Amino acid sequence: MTGKETWFFGSDHAGLDLKNALVARAKARGLEVVDLGTHDAASTDYPDYAHEVARRVAAGEGRGVLVCGTGIGMSIAANRHPGVRAALCAEPFGARMTRLHNDANVLCLGARITGPGLAEEIFDVFVDTPFEGGRHARRVTKIDER
Ligand code: RB5
Repeated sequence: MTGKETWFFGSDHAGLDLKNALVARAKARGLEVVDLGTHDAASTDYPDYAHEVARRVAAGEGRGVLVCGTGIGMSIAANRHPGVRAALCAEPFGARMTRLHNDANVLCLGARITGPGLAEEIFDVFVDTPFEGGRHARRVTKIDER
């Protein structure tokens, strides 16, 4: 990837406030951000945003962050896309390990589970932790070999 990596954000209505907080966090960190919505509190369908973000990530355009009430619907939908490795994280250890071992490229969060302070910490760990490669690269390759 050349230049600055882009981070694609998406949420449904339940994840709106946390998504906006993380967009602000990402911008404050100087990251390149594309906010694909939702942009207001009207009830929406989480798969619409999961697919929108996952399509960009699968195309190699960057990495993603998806937020819904639990993060579960977002992760199920995003993981339908080959090449997308969406990880639902509720604490920093999981975020670190999924970067080190799974090369996760989409972070999913549950706004009704994880508060904004902890979510920001999880996001920072996810952004800052590199993939370890080695034996984990072989395993990650096997994920899409069905
Ligand atoms: C919306 O009420 C809720 O179902 C959604 O945000 C998410 O938690 C689904 O997995």
